[in-house]
Amino acid sequence: MSTAASMATSKTARGWQDDPVLTVEHLTMRFGGLVAVNDLSFDVGRGDITALIGPNGAGKTTVFNCITGFYKPTQGRIVMRHGRGRQEQAVEEVTAGGKKWSGGSDGIYLLERMPDHEISLQAKLARTFQNIRLFGGMTVLENLMVAQHGPLMDASKFTVGGIVGIPGFRRAEKEAVEKAVYWLEQVDLIDRADDPAADLPYGAQRRLEIARAMCTNPQLLCLDEPAAGLNPRESAELNDLLRFIREKHGTSLLLIEHDMGVVMEISDHIVVLDYGVKISDGTAEDVRNDPSVIAAYLGVEDEELAEAPDVRAVVAEAIGDDAVLPGPDGATR
Ligand SMILES: Nc1ncnc2c1ncn2[C@@H]1O[C@H](COP(=O)(O)OP(=O)(O)O)[C@@H](O)[C@H]1O
Ligand SMILES: [Mg+2]
Repeated sequence: MSTAASMATSKTARGWQDDPVLTVEHLTMRFGGLVAVNDLSFDVGRGDITALIGPNGAGKTTVFNCITGFYKPTQGRIVMRHGRGRQEQAVEEVTAGGKKWSGGSDGIYLLERMPDHEISLQAKLARTFQNIRLFGGMTVLENLMVAQHGPLMDASKFTVGGIVGIPGFRRAEKEAVEKAVYWLEQVDLIDRADDPAADLPYGAQRRLEIARAMCTNPQLLCLDEPAAGLNPRESAELNDLLRFIREKHGTSLLLIEHDMGVVMEISDHIVVLDYGVKISDGTAEDVRNDPSVIAAYLGVEDEELAEAPDVRAVVAEAIGDDAVLPGPDGATR
């Protein structure tokens, strides 16, 4: 195949470049002298499951905190798109106009200009946390109702009369309960609806966090290490849940994950960070065969890897059985 032909093939295979729900452009985040994220750019495809991976301390959670408005990036642009395509011109107009967003069904949102509650409500982006953050004293159902307080408060028109009885509020409340019940059924927690969230086992709390995020109707759901602490059965169920969210609700997913089994199995697209810098970006196939990824995970240099063939078995186990790694002679096998 000629170079031009192979480039054309790889372009159509990489839908995230043509129709990104989110683009991170030249993102830098500094904490004093520490550069946690350094000039990072990547695309998150609409309808894709995208994984952000990398060793501990690589800057993954920091990227999430910038995307979701918890941190104000030192530099960079983060664009969320509700309409199809890259919409370069429209994005430039919003940027140059000093606006935070252009509304409507094909709205464009510049997340680095928006506080977290606007990112959730307007840009329709939801997240879960590496360390679970639920209201432990509230019931499972109440946690899902609180997540929907925005629409409920709108319906109440912020009056006591609204809250205690006008029809608009009752309708909104009924819808909120129905949505909560729907998601409790999807995550298999409907039987625990009236129990305090803190009483749930760890894996169930993780599922409740995902249900809570989905109650806000996100177009993009960001999950920070959702499989951490799960047993293999729970981890497999999580994969099914994430696929269901993508397929039945059309929600795009961006996840940070440590478990390579999870990542390689469900991701359409993987972005690899090391020391705040992107070192690889492509399909699972591309990334698992990338020597710089292997080196980053093992903390060795490419040359050392070539000289230590037995390391290849360790890597193969760590990143997937059918990984094709460069042999000592540079050949792949
Ligand atoms: N709020 C903060 N203040 C100072 N340093 C931070 C802060 N958040 C993260 N860091 C540092 O940024 C680097 C990246 O951290 P993090 O994004 O949590 O990595 P990861 O999620 O990939 O494990 C680490 O060196 C971490 O200590
Ligand atoms: Mg982290």
